[in-house]
Amino acid sequence: MARWIALGSAVLGAMLVLACAHAGFVPQPTVLDVERVQPADPGLSLEEMQAGRSIYLQRCSSCHAVHGPGEYRGDQWPDLIARMQREKKIKLPEHDRELMVRYLIAFSSTAPKSPDAGVGGSGAVPGSSEHAAAR
Ligand code: HEC
Repeated sequence: MARWIALGSAVLGAMLVLACAHAGFVPQPTVLDVERVQPADPGLSLEEMQAGRSIYLQRCSSCHAVHGPGEYRGDQWPDLIARMQREKKIKLPEHDRELMVRYLIAFSSTAPKSPDAGVGGSGAVPGSSEHAAAR
């Protein structure tokens, strides 16, 4: 019996890992993300990021599976939302739209990486090579 439970949780664990690697992954923000995005979006709080995430999940998952924020660049998200609003006639209060777009940009493929992101980070920070050369 206990062995089945152990096996079950191992399978569940593996499924969770796979789910996180999936393209539609919509990350839960943490305090580390707040620090990470400060330079790019000063004043964006954890509560605002969480609100942006839930607005996104509520408003944008009814017709299709949500796209992971990391599937697009930060500069693509505002246009994608504008297109959805225009073409699919989505009504979205401006305040909600703003929180959502700040959340999506914070987790986009071009979002600033935390300094210790290491191999997991997707690409170098622009300008980092010049810094290395100057040293
Ligand atoms: C009323 C239905 C509907 C809702 C609600 C909706 N979408 Fe879409 N979305 C679509 C359809 C249909 C497509 C695929 C066809 C297309 O690209 O126009 C699509 C495609 C997309 C794509 C892929 C675009 C591409 O170029 O490949 C993105 C990204 C997207 N939606 C984001 C959003 C976001 C963000 C929201 C919330 C603001 C949202 N969607 C809400 C219907 C919807």
